[in-house]
Amino acid sequence: MARKVIIAGNWKMNLLPLQGEELVSELKERIESKENLEVVIFPQTGLLPLAIDWTIDSAIQLGAQNASSALSGAYTGETSADLLKTLGCSYCLAGHSERRSLYGETDEIVGQKAETYLSMGITPVICVGESLAERESGKFLSVIENQVKIVFDQISKEGWPKLVWAYEPVWAIGTGKTATADQANEVHQFIRRQIQNLAGDIVANATSILYGGSAKPSNAADLLAQTDIDGLLVGGASLKADDFVDIIAAF
Ligand code: PGA
Repeated sequence: MARKVIIAGNWKMNLLPLQGEELVSELKERIESKENLEVVIFPQTGLLPLAIDWTIDSAIQLGAQNASSALSGAYTGETSADLLKTLGCSYCLAGHSERRSLYGETDEIVGQKAETYLSMGITPVICVGESLAERESGKFLSVIENQVKIVFDQISKEGWPKLVWAYEPVWAIGTGKTATADQANEVHQFIRRQIQNLAGDIVANATSILYGGSAKPSNAADLLAQTDIDGLLVGGASLKADDFVDIIAAF
């Protein structure tokens, strides 16, 4: 069975209500639905109650950028996965490199978040990736191996088939520098082998692994043509309707 292809737009801390609404209405008009393709947008948390209306009657799915690993209680400033579910989110990111570097999220925390999302019926999109120094040292695969293993250790077995992974080399995020299709596919195959070792063939073959890091219309087709790249996590280019529509059309 073909794996699901996911094209995800990570809006990060951008767009106010009017801009978000305008962007979604253009996307709704211009995106062609295709078999096996899922389009997901990840707006800021405060936009989610509006985005549920913008995306109603469309195939665009909603995701959140972050939620707490705790279920509820005295966690000032946090958002619960339970609330996200109520707001119509089917996905939530975990372990984006900006959360790791700016907010100290460790692999353990990322795994705990993923487990909490799963308990609420939300699909975690777990981001892993190496820094430039790690890439240049030649040890990047062992960095990825460690990240995947520690995250996996936090998640119960029943959750394994429900995970989505994203390989996002930190040096390619927001830099305009994309991993080549070969560089990306090498890591995707490595992640899939690791999933195979930890969770078995069936889970590994069915798991979607997205690439993220300066994905744009000019490189989308090449990336998506790779054997083990099952979609894209798009930052900057997801804020412009033309670019995001072209990226989706590249599939
Ligand atoms: P970028 O961001 O496409 O702007 O590089 C990707 C991401 O951070 O998910």
